[in-house]
Amino acid sequence: MPRDPRLIAIASGKGGVGKTWLAITLADALSRLGRRVLLFDADFGLANIDVQLGLMPAFDLGSVLDGSVSLAGAVVRHPDCQFDILAGRSGTGAMADLDPAQLEAALAMPRCGSAGYDDVLIDLGAGVERAVRRMASLSDILLVLATEEPTSLTDAYAVLKLHRLDRPLGDARVVVNMVSTQAAGERTYFTLRRACSTFLRFEPRLAGIVRRDDKVRDAIRRQVPLLTRHPVCQASGDIEVVAQGLAG
Ligand SMILES: Nc1ncnc2c1ncn2[C@@H]1O[C@H](COP(=O)(O)OP(=O)(O)OP(=O)(O)O)[C@@H](O)[C@H]1O
Ligand SMILES: [Mg+2]
Repeated sequence: MPRDPRLIAIASGKGGVGKTWLAITLADALSRLGRRVLLFDADFGLANIDVQLGLMPAFDLGSVLDGSVSLAGAVVRHPDCQFDILAGRSGTGAMADLDPAQLEAALAMPRCGSAGYDDVLIDLGAGVERAVRRMASLSDILLVLATEEPTSLTDAYAVLKLHRLDRPLGDARVVVNMVSTQAAGERTYFTLRRACSTFLRFEPRLAGIVRRDDKVRDAIRRQVPLLTRHPVCQASGDIEVVAQGLAG
């Protein structure tokens, strides 16, 4: 019997902290570990996985929702990598105002339409609106991305708090991104964990620490996945550790 795919959603509250980049790079890293991966753009406001990857898929999540094509028909394989992609409706904001039925269909899609995959990596939008919160609560693992900036930490805490309300026994883990050293990342994680422990009475696990690395911006600028463009650099090594933790 085929196993159900595992849904791994990536949220942060605060925008611009690296969710989309992490989703892409983890999809790549997990596929290199032999896992069958679907990368699902669930940023209904400003989808941009296709842009970060330099792809122009003929179909996207919007095409599936309006009935033009099946999910399998809209999914594309990355031309140089081993993972599949369902793009969002890039750059239009057209998905921001889904009607309730479309929203329910979009929320159900990663679970219902992704047989044959081991992992579905779900890139969520910034903020904690209903759609983000619902998609996070439907995931098997929620990766909450934070940087050491106070505003990112408070937003990551808000995401964890809401997730705890929605899924009291849910598996929420922290990824710290864009830090100068592993030690700085650990300090950030401990700060967040202390707040959760004190006020929410739970301690999220640490999924990993990713250091700030100029190679990330270079890879994004060239629209090439980091592990392809710079297989040996700090951030690639850090992502591989996160992927091994998730795969293990
Ligand atoms: N480890 C890193 N080292 C250096 N730069 C990074 C790192 N991670 C992310 N970045 C930078 O952060 C920028 C924003 O990343 P990304 O678009 O993935 O964020 P996001 O959280 O998805 O944003 P949004 O909330 O708008 O969807 C990237 O363009 C990249 O330059
Ligand atoms: Mg993004």
